[in-house]
Amino acid sequence: MKTVQMFSHLFFKSTLLAASVSLVNSAAESEALVVPTAVRTAAAVVSTVAAKVNNVVINTNTTTVANVTTVAAKTVGTTLNSTVLIFARDTASAYSGFSGLNGYAIPYEVVIVPADGITLPTLNSSETVGNYGAFVVLSEVSYEYNGTEGFQSAISAAQWAELYQYQLTFGVRMVRLDVFPSGDSGTEAIGGCCATGIEQLISITNATAFPTAGLKTGAGMSTQGLWHYPANITEPEYTTEIAQFAATTGFDDVSTAAVINDFSGRQQMVFFTGFATDWSPTSNFLQHAWIHWVTRGVYTGFRRVNLNTQVDDMFLETDIYYPVNTTFTIAPSDLAQHVTWMPTVNAYLPPGSDWFMEVGHNGNGNIEDAEDINERKCGVGSIEYADQIDTPLEFVKPPGTGTNLWPETPATYPYTTSCTDLDDLLQWWQKPANLNAFAHVSHTFTHEDQDNATYFDVYRELTWNQAWLKQVGIANATKFSKDLF
Ligand SMILES: *[C@@H]1O[C@H](CO)[C@@H](O)[C@H](O)[C@H]1NC(C)=O
Ligand SMILES: *[C@@H]1O[C@H](CO)[C@@H](O)[C@H](O)[C@H]1NC(C)=O
Ligand SMILES: *[C@@H]1O[C@H](CO)[C@@H](O)[C@H](O)[C@H]1NC(C)=O
Ligand SMILES: *[C@@H]1O[C@H](CO)[C@@H](O)[C@H](O)[C@H]1NC(C)=O
Ligand SMILES: *[C@@H]1O[C@H](CO)[C@@H](O)[C@H](O)[C@H]1NC(C)=O
Ligand SMILES: *[C@@H]1O[C@H](CO)[C@@H](O)[C@H](O)[C@H]1NC(C)=O
Ligand SMILES: *[C@@H]1O[C@H](CO)[C@@H](O)[C@H](O)[C@H]1NC(C)=O
Ligand SMILES: *[C@@H]1O[C@H](CO)[C@@H](O)[C@H](O)[C@H]1NC(C)=O
Ligand SMILES: *[C@@H]1O[C@H](CO)[C@@H](O)[C@H](O)[C@H]1NC(C)=O
Ligand SMILES: *[C@@H]1O[C@H](CO)[C@@H](O)[C@H](O)[C@H]1NC(C)=O
Repeated sequence: MKTVQMFSHLFFKSTLLAASVSLVNSAAESEALVVPTAVRTAAAVVSTVAAKVNNVVINTNTTTVANVTTVAAKTVGTTLNSTVLIFARDTASAYSGFSGLNGYAIPYEVVIVPADGITLPTLNSSETVGNYGAFVVLSEVSYEYNGTEGFQSAISAAQWAELYQYQLTFGVRMVRLDVFPSGDSGTEAIGGCCATGIEQLISITNATAFPTAGLKTGAGMSTQGLWHYPANITEPEYTTEIAQFAATTGFDDVSTAAVINDFSGRQQMVFFTGFATDWSPTSNFLQHAWIHWVTRGVYTGFRRVNLNTQVDDMFLETDIYYPVNTTFTIAPSDLAQHVTWMPTVNAYLPPGSDWFMEVGHNGNGNIEDAEDINERKCGVGSIEYADQIDTPLEFVKPPGTGTNLWPETPATYPYTTSCTDLDDLLQWWQKPANLNAFAHVSHTFTHEDQDNATYFDVYRELTWNQAWLKQVGIANATKFSKDLF
């Protein structure tokens, strides 16, 4: 058996918690208390070993927990802290357990479990007061022990039993991410998937147990880069499917991707796929299922989603790919439907949502359009220079070098509203109902590449655009950073 080395684990807790409770005390070795800054680091890949299940060889680098006996106990706990306790092999992989909790501001603590094991934090200090409101375990914190032991969890069977017992006593749920299907989750493995380039979509099939997550069922998401184990439910009396893998090469039928088990009151949600919230949109989508289930939708904090849809280069003519060698300039009729469309999107977002598009404007496009209509009214005319050639990607401009592209004069913004107002696109933006439906930012006046630009040019790019935004009234929009001007 592996030796359980006392006090050797790294333990860290959420910034949201006062660092007041030290769950494992050791005079011999001081505990490493680390505040997790949600740094996205790729977790080291754990190599797979071949396991033979039902005469099928499946490559796996996670396990399942065996031989744990749970004592049936009635729920007696009366007071429970909502802190989520997360077990992970290392800090990088722990990110997939806590990044979503950070997003909601749900308090959590992470216990890093090395191959030689840990002592469990004190789960409860009395018969009735529990210190944790939920458990999350990543990859069963399993390691390859080489030889007869093979892949197994670094949490011992006795410790799993203690966690299970606590679950029953305090009515606390457990989430297990990246698990090899087995009887421990009422399932069996059908295989391991997928080889590079093979796509097997995953979708939520039954969201009844986590309604507050607001997830769509039947919406397939990519599993590319997420090693997973298509499963078959063998024990339906205590196992309910919540997510499914689609059929793909080597898997003719749909299979189970995640389940909820209810073992006479001890409840767990088990995902048969790796999670990588540092890069995978799929993991980021799926995590809302377990977060809402494990907390029963009752948690501190609230979910924040910042979605910035910024439309670039308003007023400028743009080369387009198709038809080749043609240009496009947006027209009022293209914009009008967005004014009515944005409220329809908000109408089906959760209460409190306020989504709107943000537009980056370039004043020179307004002058170009106006002078096409009446050149005489636009004085010096728009700012024009030859096509710029892209610098190499790693180009670093030597300070003090460069060639001015802008004309020597005038130094300050020269145009009058009798020029700017000729443009029907500007007239559209000047209508308050249109202007205030969007947020606005200053792009630059002409969109000059600034990799190799001079101070002379950049100063004009910024100040002329600001002067123009003020003159035409865009700077008076309700959603505009006026204080910066
Ligand atoms: C498990 O192995 C697969 C296949 O090599 C790999 O894609 C995945 O990242 C590994 N999982 C972990 C947690 O290391
Ligand atoms: C589980 O128990 C069986 C029967 O006692 C034993 O053969 C097996 O080695 C045990 N497995 C583990 C992982 O302890
Ligand atoms: C909950 O846990 C946190 C951190 O472990 C601790 O600071 C707080 O006092 C606990 N609250 C209760 C009610 O036990
Ligand atoms: C913690 O709860 C368990 C039941 O899950 C109980 O057996 C144990 O005595 C409790 N611990 C303390 C210190 O009261
Ligand atoms: C198993 O063997 C590999 C390769 O020698 C080694 O890297 C790993 O640390 C070993 N696992 C344990 C738990 O000792
Ligand atoms: C969906 O989940 C709910 C809640 O877990 C369960 O009661 C129901 O039986 C499930 N439906 C199906 C079709 O499995
Ligand atoms: C899934 O399990 C059921 C019940 O044990 C069995 O009848 C069926 O053949 C299994 N399907 C696969 C694909 O293994
Ligand atoms: C597009 O323009 C380029 C450069 O002027 C020219 O070489 C090319 O033949 C044109 N393509 C077509 C399909 O007109
Ligand atoms: C940068 O500008 C200078 C001066 O105009 C020019 O000589 C040089 O070729 C430019 N460098 C790049 C990488 O475009
Ligand atoms: C912008 O608002 C200021 C202050 O209300 C006002 O003086 C100015 O005339 C407005 N500008 C335009 C172009 O409407």
